[in-house]
Amino acid sequence: MSSDLVWSKLQELLAEGVQSFKDAKDEDALTHAQKRFLGRKGSVQAYMQHMKELAPEERPKLGALVNEVRTKLEKTFADVEQKIRDAKLAADLKQRKVDLTLPGRTPTLGAEHPLQKTQRQIEDIFLQMGFEIAQGPQSEWDYFNFEALNFPADHPARDMQDTLMLENGSLLRTHTSPVQVRTMLCYEPPIRIIAPGTVYRRDDDVTHSPMFHQIEGLHIEKGLNLTHLRGILELFAQSLFGKNTKIRLRPSFFPFTEPSVEVDIACIFCGQKGCRLCKQTGWIEILGAGMVDPNVLREGHIDPEIWSGWAFGVGIERVAMLLHGISDIRLFFESDLRFLKQFA
Ligand code: DAH
Repeated sequence: MSSDLVWSKLQELLAEGVQSFKDAKDEDALTHAQKRFLGRKGSVQAYMQHMKELAPEERPKLGALVNEVRTKLEKTFADVEQKIRDAKLAADLKQRKVDLTLPGRTPTLGAEHPLQKTQRQIEDIFLQMGFEIAQGPQSEWDYFNFEALNFPADHPARDMQDTLMLENGSLLRTHTSPVQVRTMLCYEPPIRIIAPGTVYRRDDDVTHSPMFHQIEGLHIEKGLNLTHLRGILELFAQSLFGKNTKIRLRPSFFPFTEPSVEVDIACIFCGQKGCRLCKQTGWIEILGAGMVDPNVLREGHIDPEIWSGWAFGVGIERVAMLLHGISDIRLFFESDLRFLKQFA
């Protein structure tokens, strides 16, 4: 075949291909035409077989012609393909109707965890009274957790606060009380702080969790005594449980306070008639407190001859359980939305 003949046949093929593409009504028909003209075994490629029939100097010309035709066909194919897609989209959009009566999609909002909520409630009460928020580490030195709080190395009161020792010799703090001495070492008195945080103990039943939360309170000023402690804790209990809530102080023991007390509130469930929750006593224990032991003030570089202080420690889970009538502490940590949503 001469190159002229090849050229005119290729022109015919080009015209035929363009027409087939343009005639294609949908994607299937277009794909079919594409295979026929542009596929590996398609008509355009077939012309390459004529190569060997041509004189060597004509061969590059044939290659160029075939490429030119292929490029043109590919362009037509792409145009038609785009047109078919646009038409399909337009038709689809046209038949869609907007239903204004359908409900909107409401994003699900997260909510505060009941313990977080309780912590904030307690913080707010003390912030209003001029206390500030202090913090300390959860991995704590034996010194701050025990020693500086008047628990010597072999003191039996340590047994009640068994915890995990860490490899670097520190431990998981068993209470928030270590923040007391840490704060005394950082600030000059007068001091009014509360210290919320996570604490750990070897304890596990329906009212005790190995990981739980406390809020420590510490007030250091000149001339403080037990009546100041009583007054503030009464206000605290009334803000939390209602303005008629009565409190009482019972003698107790903590190594870091002298005297030490346990604070009870009048049973909020039975109005002191006696029930299962107050064990028929009419009173429910909520926290431990006392006057800061002079030894502890000294560890904090504060002169007990000039300054005196009172302190308390309250369990956040315990308060939340009382406020909401929750009987199993583990509910707080199971992430069950049926439980959590009740506080949203
Ligand atoms: N740290 C004590 C505990 O976890 C609670 C406590 C009692 C804290 C008396 C105090 C306090 O600050 O004065 O059992």
